[in-house]
Amino acid sequence: MKKQVCVSVALGAVLIFAPGCTRSGDGQNDPAPSSPRLTGAAAGEALFDQKCAICHDRGATAKVGPGLKGTTGRHSEAWLTAWIGDPQGTWDAKAPETEAMKAALGKSDTPMTAMKNRELTPEEIANLIAFLKKNDGK
Ligand code: HEC
Repeated sequence: MKKQVCVSVALGAVLIFAPGCTRSGDGQNDPAPSSPRLTGAAAGEALFDQKCAICHDRGATAKVGPGLKGTTGRHSEAWLTAWIGDPQGTWDAKAPETEAMKAALGKSDTPMTAMKNRELTPEEIANLIAFLKKNDGK
């Protein structure tokens, strides 16, 4: 009887002091996920991670949409503003720049874009474009 108690106490001690249980600093120094004071490209980057990264890589790898590395070279700022604010409307307007993108994606005859309208304000769109430029080293 006494011996059994000893064994279970010893076992408990081993579990408590097992190295896996004594990790320190788990997430304690992580910055807040989004700070209201971010502006410009930094605010755009935070927004990108929240609203765009599910479909776009910031490098060249295609996900649901194309990788966005180089997009500010492929598109004018005016086009990017229109597109990010209203993808389907821009798709339907068939400007030469949009038709060139459709052709590059093999979607010249596709009636709907797969990009969702994220309901962004003009300021959010400007910040996203500032981030895309910075991502392109501009
Ligand atoms: C649901 C997926 C999805 C989300 C979310 C999304 N996109 Fe897209 N995006 C696409 C697809 C797909 C295309 C290519 C057009 C097509 O195939 O319909 C595209 C195209 C683009 C292009 C043009 C790429 C090029 O170089 O030709 C830009 C720029 C872009 N998206 C920016 C954004 C930004 C900024 C956000 C976040 C606000 C965003 N997208 C959110 C799917 C998405």
